Amino acid sequence: MSDLAELRRKAAGCTACELYADATQTVFGAGPPGASTVLVGEQPGDREDIAGEPFVGPAGRVLDRALERAGVARTDVYVTNVVKHFRFRREDRHGGKGTIRIHRTPGVEHVRACLPWLHAELAAVGPQLLVTLGATAAKALLGMSFRLTQHRGEVLAYAELPLVATIHPSAVLRGPKDRQAEMFDELVADLELAGRTLSGLGRGG
Ligand code: URA
Repeated sequence: MSDLAELRRKAAGCTACELYADATQTVFGAGPPGASTVLVGEQPGDREDIAGEPFVGPAGRVLDRALERAGVARTDVYVTNVVKHFRFRREDRHGGKGTIRIHRTPGVEHVRACLPWLHAELAAVGPQLLVTLGATAAKALLGMSFRLTQHRGEVLAYAELPLVATIHPSAVLRGPKDRQAEMFDELVADLELAGRTLSGLGRGG
């Protein structure tokens, strides 16, 4: 299973955990097949679940701004998630206006069930550098004892590839108002570090 299009087709029918039952669709990774950098998020959100594309909602807009500030073209990177179905709970809206879907962090069982797809994507894309966005992605690749607060912004390693672990773009949106600009700058600084690391390997983009 080395071809991305083939993987995408197979992942569309994945029933390895129960999340497929309530989600609209599998949200597979997107980007150039031979990208030198792969960004790994947690799981699709509400918008991504509907669109079928990763990082196209509010967190995606933060990511796009941060990539732009860091001088990295989104079209040059492959963007994916550890878990490929949206996990959510329904909550009543005020005034009986139906329900909204609220994000739930995926459990270890969902990460475990979905990881083979990420491993296969990484094998197919063959990147030179990985960037994890948030704790779920970092722990999925670096182990459950990994602490983002201790190792954010460092160049780590996964399967002999350099890996930069940074915060999730949605953490910027959820952060205290007086910290959001600083958190955004941290995200940009980590993406810049990723860019420099890649340049040091002899390949930009
Ligand atoms: N958050 C993620 O981790 N991934 C997405 O695709 C969207 C929001």
